[in-house]
Amino acid sequence: MAKSATQPSAKLSAATRLPPPISIGISENDRAAIAAGLSRLLADTYTLYLTTHNFHWNVTGPMFNTLHQMFMAQYTELWAAVDPIAERIRSLGHPAPGSYAQFGKLTSIADAPATPPKALDMVRILVQGHEAVARTARALFPTADKASDEPTADLLTQRLTVHEQTAWMLRSLLEE
Ligand SMILES: [Fe+2]
Repeated sequence: MAKSATQPSAKLSAATRLPPPISIGISENDRAAIAAGLSRLLADTYTLYLTTHNFHWNVTGPMFNTLHQMFMAQYTELWAAVDPIAERIRSLGHPAPGSYAQFGKLTSIADAPATPPKALDMVRILVQGHEAVARTARALFPTADKASDEPTADLLTQRLTVHEQTAWMLRSLLEE
């Protein structure tokens, strides 16, 4: 008697220990596709962060002070940007990549050169990097839009604004 009385409550407590399935109105397939695109964006952003910080350390020449300061503002912004991207991936029910091996496989951006480039070549590499991240972010837009994933679309819009503006500012340094 005592045993049968405890069984239902034991079953109930086991069931309540498990989280309920994610039900936010975005299908499992769409959540997976968006998380995969955000993982590529995270890898691109992290790689560009590291290259920008590298260039802050290694820049030389008459533009040292300007570029050293400019790169610091840019790597600080990129460093702050990785967190909301990773946490959106988690909100969609997927693990966020966070290792050099994973980032190396996912990113569309080449690693920083082992030998520090000349100052204006650094600027050129960063223009191409910001434009590459913009392409990665933009490629995910239709998927997020189709799934009515406004938080991801909003995040992509913010990242596109920053990368396109930064690419313009860096590009201006290369013009006559
Ligand atoms: Fe510094």
